[in-house]
Amino acid sequence: MTDKYAVIGNPIAHSQSPMIHAAFAKQTHQAMCYEAILAPLDGFAETVNQLVAQGYKGVNVTVPFKIAAFKLATQHQPSALPAEAANTLVFRGEQRIAENTDGIGLVTDIQKNLAITLQNKRVLLIGAGGAAQGVALEIASRMPALFVVTNRSMEKVSAMQHRLAAVTTHRLTPISLASFGQLDGQVFDVVINATSTGLSDSVLPIPDGIFTPSTLAYDMMYGRETPFMAQARLAGAKVADGLGMLVEQAAAAFYLWRDVKPDTAPVIQQMRGV
Ligand code: ATR
Repeated sequence: MTDKYAVIGNPIAHSQSPMIHAAFAKQTHQAMCYEAILAPLDGFAETVNQLVAQGYKGVNVTVPFKIAAFKLATQHQPSALPAEAANTLVFRGEQRIAENTDGIGLVTDIQKNLAITLQNKRVLLIGAGGAAQGVALEIASRMPALFVVTNRSMEKVSAMQHRLAAVTTHRLTPISLASFGQLDGQVFDVVINATSTGLSDSVLPIPDGIFTPSTLAYDMMYGRETPFMAQARLAGAKVADGLGMLVEQAAAAFYLWRDVKPDTAPVIQQMRGV
């Protein structure tokens, strides 16, 4: 019996998830299939209900349905709470369990693949939208010495700070707020761009001085060099894109569904075309 999984989004044609999960399934000899499903913008819940009725075991969820996925879940894991958004649903009996593997995907890429530990480091997260909220808990739980969050709209950072402070299941480094202007004179070991500026080619008003030659500048986007990555490279920092995070968040979902940990390195290499 082949277990069925899918990724649901709108649009969805560009999704790399079917390729990644097919590679994991082949590597770990799991009898499963995984497809991309386009849900109508007003038809996410109906699509999920149909998949559950057809015996699917779980789904990944992408733009614009992550909040809707959280809302229709019957159980919410801590990973999904700060952003009130889920990128993974596990269907178990009557339960629809909401998880968010973006945070563990990011942290695993930084700590395992890029070999940089977050504990005791000075970490800056840029952004306070859905992408930033989805990873903040996992970063904070790695106990950086300092966890600064900056964003154009500071109200969103305050809201994020309060939501994170409400999480009682983990020991956390609390969020420190900083406006872009307040970054002058500060340096960081790890700077993570979780804004959507890479999509529009907008330049972030961040000073070059936050980067040193040992700083890791990480953009959660992948596929090309964003203005953030270019600035960090010119300022002498080490630069990484979000391809490893994409594969690691998929691996974390795969583990939730199958209880098997795939080897991500060959899949990342395959996607980089090396
Ligand atoms: P996502 O789900 O990708 O996080 P989002 O929730 O719309 O999308 O959030 C977009 C993020 O990018 C926000 O942090 C946003 O800043 P604001 O909260 O101040 O809007 C940030 N962002 C988008 N365009 C930006 C720009 N031109 N300059 C600075 N920040 C920008």
